[in-house]
Amino acid sequence: MHWSVVLMAMAIGGARAQLTAQSSVAPDLRECYTNATLLNRNNLPPTTVAVLIDIIRKIEDSPNVNVDLRQLAVSLLHTYRQDGIEFHQPDTSLPSSANVLPYAPTFHSFHRHRLLLARLIPNNLPVFANDTIPAVLKCAFHNMLSTTVDARVRSDEAACNQLSQYRAQRVPRALRASRARVDGDVEILDKSALESANRNGHMRQYNPNDDVEYAQVYGAKSERQVLGESTCPVLGGVVHSAWGALSAGAVIAGVAAGAESQQVPISELSRSALTEYSNMLVTSIYPATLSGDLAEAALIQGTERGSSVISIGAGGGWNSSQARRHFLLQTRLNLEMTDPEVRGDIDGFVLGSMLPRTLSTYGSLKLSQLLDMYYTAKNGVFDANIRACNRKLTAASTSSEELQRQTLAFAAALDSNMPLRGTITGGLESLVANAVTNYRTHVDNMADVNCVTTELTAATTRSKTNLYIVLDSAWQYETIYPAISYILDTIEVGKFGSSATLLSAFDGSVIINKTFSLADFHSHYTLSRHQSLLLGVNLLNTFTNVRTLMANELEEEKRLNYVGGNSSVLLFLLNSGNLQNNDQVLEQARKLNETVPDLRVLFATSTNQMDVLWNLVRDMHNDVQTIQLQSNGMNVETSLARVMDRINQAGRRIVNPACGSQWTETGLSGSRHFVDYIEPGYVNYYSVSPNYFFQNNDNRKVRIVRTGGGAGTFVICQSRSVARPRMNGTDSADQSAVKCELMQGAGASGSYEVSLRGACDGHWTVGACPNFYISVELPAQSNPTTTATCTEAGCRFPYNSRYQVEIEEFGCYSGASTAGATLMLLLTSLALLLMR
Ligand SMILES: *[C@@H]1O[C@H](CO)[C@@H](O)[C@H](O)[C@H]1NC(C)=O
Ligand SMILES: *[C@@H]1O[C@H](CO)[C@@H](O)[C@H](O)[C@H]1NC(C)=O
Ligand SMILES: *[C@@H]1O[C@H](CO)[C@@H](O)[C@H](O)[C@H]1NC(C)=O
Ligand SMILES: *[C@@H]1O[C@H](CO)[C@@H](O)[C@H](O)[C@H]1NC(C)=O
Ligand SMILES: *[C@@H]1O[C@H](CO)[C@@H](O)[C@H](O)[C@H]1NC(C)=O
Ligand SMILES: *[C@@H]1O[C@H](CO)[C@@H](O)[C@H](O)[C@H]1NC(C)=O
Ligand SMILES: *[C@@H]1O[C@H](CO)[C@@H](O)[C@H](O)[C@H]1NC(C)=O
Repeated sequence: MHWSVVLMAMAIGGARAQLTAQSSVAPDLRECYTNATLLNRNNLPPTTVAVLIDIIRKIEDSPNVNVDLRQLAVSLLHTYRQDGIEFHQPDTSLPSSANVLPYAPTFHSFHRHRLLLARLIPNNLPVFANDTIPAVLKCAFHNMLSTTVDARVRSDEAACNQLSQYRAQRVPRALRASRARVDGDVEILDKSALESANRNGHMRQYNPNDDVEYAQVYGAKSERQVLGESTCPVLGGVVHSAWGALSAGAVIAGVAAGAESQQVPISELSRSALTEYSNMLVTSIYPATLSGDLAEAALIQGTERGSSVISIGAGGGWNSSQARRHFLLQTRLNLEMTDPEVRGDIDGFVLGSMLPRTLSTYGSLKLSQLLDMYYTAKNGVFDANIRACNRKLTAASTSSEELQRQTLAFAAALDSNMPLRGTITGGLESLVANAVTNYRTHVDNMADVNCVTTELTAATTRSKTNLYIVLDSAWQYETIYPAISYILDTIEVGKFGSSATLLSAFDGSVIINKTFSLADFHSHYTLSRHQSLLLGVNLLNTFTNVRTLMANELEEEKRLNYVGGNSSVLLFLLNSGNLQNNDQVLEQARKLNETVPDLRVLFATSTNQMDVLWNLVRDMHNDVQTIQLQSNGMNVETSLARVMDRINQAGRRIVNPACGSQWTETGLSGSRHFVDYIEPGYVNYYSVSPNYFFQNNDNRKVRIVRTGGGAGTFVICQSRSVARPRMNGTDSADQSAVKCELMQGAGASGSYEVSLRGACDGHWTVGACPNFYISVELPAQSNPTTTATCTEAGCRFPYNSRYQVEIEEFGCYSGASTAGATLMLLLTSLALLLMR
């Protein structure tokens, strides 16, 4: 009895494992197609590598998920990826039925997907539970992994030819044209035979030995057949990266296949494969990546279109410069291996092939880390060559012969698993050879950003900022949303980076709670949420409420014994004119300034408001900026450049948690520390406010102590006037105001001390005494580390170096109390002087 229950449960588990490989929409994914909110991609987080990694981290961190990298990749595919789902217009003559979902996996990409999941990357564990991540993230993730083409006519096709203005990375027309020359060079099949097969609908009849059910495929008409096709169809399964848009499903599949490579005979993939191929073996990583798409292209273009030249690569672009969600193709022909698929295939192939070596370097590497290391500007996956910017070179180093052999083998298997409008009777070799040749030419011509440019333009610091955005709802959502999205991307909101909090400019109330998750922020800050905000800007209420919020944060930091590590910035994004600033506002701003000394206040306004706002900030010349945002989100980068620069100028805080929000002067810190990490090629900047060292204490100091392994020499700099002190710095006006020292050697021996003794001598008030600025740099290494030295939970990358920031005897001097006290002292001594 009990046993039968267990067996039953196991059987159900086994069945669940392949629901995404079945020819209807998988049950857990159905709500992505039935719920109107989830169906509209504008309500889901943008499809970017950063959001993809964020969602993977959430799954990795989920208490119910306890699997290694390989199993995670496999389970992700089986749970969230289902290629080829298309809309099918229900027959209008029939009453629409609540029992029928007008979506089914019928696009060509589904057939390869099914073979992959059922035979090449099988899963023997149950798929992830439905509630592992919220529905919004589930659907976003499904969309990022699942390749399909939505060819329905929309209404915005007129804008299709403007895609290039969004800086879509695509092959210049001249280069594309050169491919056409290949046409005619290669003669493969009897072309006329193929063409007639094509015209006459030389379709196969249902054959019980075939692996395809035909009835469904040709039974219902997909809407593209009914309404005509869009001139720029939407390609699904694409994510944005700085190195070109790519198909994320192929990347995860490459990792899953590479982690446990399988050699599968063709006869196991297809019961009716052409006999001359049935003894061939296919290595799973090939069909999971490059060979999968190449085989599709060869088969579909070769049979259905009777083409002897297999066209590889179809360009396109995002219809937005920020917060990218819709990748529009520039063509509706030859979509078997689009540009994003080419990139995803190469990345998946490179990462998967490398994986055994990578895991031998660091066995407990996470999938999120692997992707993070690959899609980042510097250092790479334990090897500077294994980076997205190097894609073209790594692709060139793979063997064409093997690719051709594997593609041929897989094409032979796919042939009998995919309904085609023609039958291959010979010449498959030449179709495949042509596909591989054209693929290589196409990759050579791809114009993605290379590693040299990447490194030249890469930031030298990683933000770790708690950013509070005060939002004026007078902005059009279409205008402000791309700007906010850009800001969050730039400061790297994420588990190891920055956080974002959205406040209302109406009264300073919290719209979106502090979050370290890009996906969460975007799933909450939608058009409807924006439209529900109260209209108007009230600086008094806002400053008053922000002060309460910040006081609570300080109390929380006191409770947590937080010594520092993040910077904090309050950024107003205002569109309204006629701002009301008065003495009461100024009083609140002054109190905020005095009791939350490390909070940098910035204003970005659509019209010049300097005359009104200048007295609410520290540095009126730089902290009040005018930004010109356009309603289509263009121009965000240039418009926000100075604002971003100001955000970055705010150093990571080093604080005395004993002060809390009350600033009781007895709160000496004693000896405390926090841990921080640095990657090769980056600098961390810190800033200590005089509120912690105004009155003298001879033992007061900050110490940087290297506490972990890792190669390379630290460079530590300090300054009182240069906010970002750096050895050989270029942005520092006066290099003589910067003092630097090298900290040799790894291990606990390295230590550097900054004494704060008498640091405010000669200054009458806290406000007059400058901050102390400190930086820790780990210069880029010519031979990047090939070992994992940073394996604890706080390490974003395994090659990070760890150190401690230690403080001794920090005090508490709020601007208010000490300015007052000093003034009293001054007056008293003056009075004494006069009395004499
Ligand atoms: C659709 O999904 C959203 C987001 O998960 C949810 O809030 C809403 O209740 C769902 N609507 C229906 C009708 O289930
Ligand atoms: C789980 O799946 C069912 C449909 O199978 C759906 O109705 C439900 O809302 C899902 N729950 C979550 C948390 O996604
Ligand atoms: C991009 O196109 C989609 C589909 O037509 C549309 O829903 C979306 O609003 C467009 N986005 C932008 C920013 O224009
Ligand atoms: C500082 O940032 C890190 C991540 O970068 C985060 O884990 C931590 O909670 C943040 N601390 C505070 C007080 O916000
Ligand atoms: C923010 O978080 C608090 C508790 O942490 C919760 O009570 C509150 O409802 C949240 N606010 C919003 C706007 O989500
Ligand atoms: C600064 O410049 C000197 C001389 O050019 C060089 O030796 C040193 O490595 C540089 N330091 C850093 C941190 O770049
Ligand atoms: C905040 O304090 C700084 C000095 O710490 C001072 O220069 C600035 O004027 C103050 N700003 C406000 C709004 O009080």
